[in-house]
Amino acid sequence: MRGSRIAGMGHFVPENIVTNDHLAALMETSDEWIAKRTGIRERRWVVGDVGATDLAVPAVEQALAEAGMTAADLDMIIFATLSPDVNFPGSSCLLQARLAVPGIATLDIRNQCTGFVYGLSVADQFIRTGAMKTVLVVGAEVHSSGLDISTRGRDVAVLFGDGAGAAVLTATEGDNRLIDSALHADGTDYEILMLEAPASRLNPRFTPEMFEQGRHYPQMVGQAVFKHAVKRLPEVIDEVLSRNGATIDDVALMVPHQANLRINEMVARMIGIDSSKVYNNIQRYGNTTAASIPIALHEAVQEGRVKSGDLVLLAAFGAGLTWGANLIRW
Ligand code: COA
Repeated sequence: MRGSRIAGMGHFVPENIVTNDHLAALMETSDEWIAKRTGIRERRWVVGDVGATDLAVPAVEQALAEAGMTAADLDMIIFATLSPDVNFPGSSCLLQARLAVPGIATLDIRNQCTGFVYGLSVADQFIRTGAMKTVLVVGAEVHSSGLDISTRGRDVAVLFGDGAGAAVLTATEGDNRLIDSALHADGTDYEILMLEAPASRLNPRFTPEMFEQGRHYPQMVGQAVFKHAVKRLPEVIDEVLSRNGATIDDVALMVPHQANLRINEMVARMIGIDSSKVYNNIQRYGNTTAASIPIALHEAVQEGRVKSGDLVLLAAFGAGLTWGANLIRW
């Protein structure tokens, strides 16, 4: 039966390292507060005018090289981001232009931290049906230019970093494949994590008063998001494992979304997976939203943490609220 496998991956982060001490010079915070509550020690922030597509390009070049392909082999580009280069068109179109492959299908995914998990599933569906043979899935974010780096925004600003990750999915008849994905959303409480303006529901969409109020910055009710994560991640992990006849003991490596080390440690305890089988790099990158899973997965592969035939579990949650998981036979 036709399915899809990851033929190559790439990732890219900006050179500029911003430590917790750097942030403490900009706002009332401390290395101790940030590290204790989130595990984050440093993150990468772009310098100057750099968009999500600029970070995506080197990640994609690496993924294509790893797959032994060129952009001409792609049938479709899926781009997951909450920080598109421009409001419209989608960054998938900008990336397609940079890769010089006019004519192929493009799609932007607006599912925030769950964006890459959704993207893998969408690519897999197109490949399974035979509509596409090879699909590029990208997660890329530039958060730093959209954060309130004063004390007013400290609860959010310390969490996020910039970066990009990419995977090339291609058709296979073999067992090494994306086995299944579980995707969910519940928009009831969308306001607990959102960036409101400019907004089509407001007329005008943006005013000097809104700028003063900081309504163009992300707003978050941190504890509510934390509770969502530790409830939904175990649920969706159980769902994707049990409906494929697997248990957590079968998983060789879990790569959870990198939002908070405490969340990932708590979820690992709840589902009963040894911490040695959970890959975390939030300490170095912060939360890179749609880019966090492909960056972490590719680093894990490069470090030799994944070998052919391993069962790999990806799981994410985020704004929306959204959550999901992918189960992969590597
Ligand atoms: N530095 C220092 N103090 C800070 C701070 C910072 N960067 N941010 C907030 N504080 C303060 C608060 O103002 C509050 O002060 P008060 O007690 O005087 O009112 C205090 O620290 C505690 O704030 P609280 O929000 O209760 O902390 P918390 O223990 O819930 O931790 C998070 C905050 C954000 C780390 C935590 O809620 C979290 O990680 N939530 C999930 C967020 C997430 O994953 N988001 C991304 C989803 S994809």
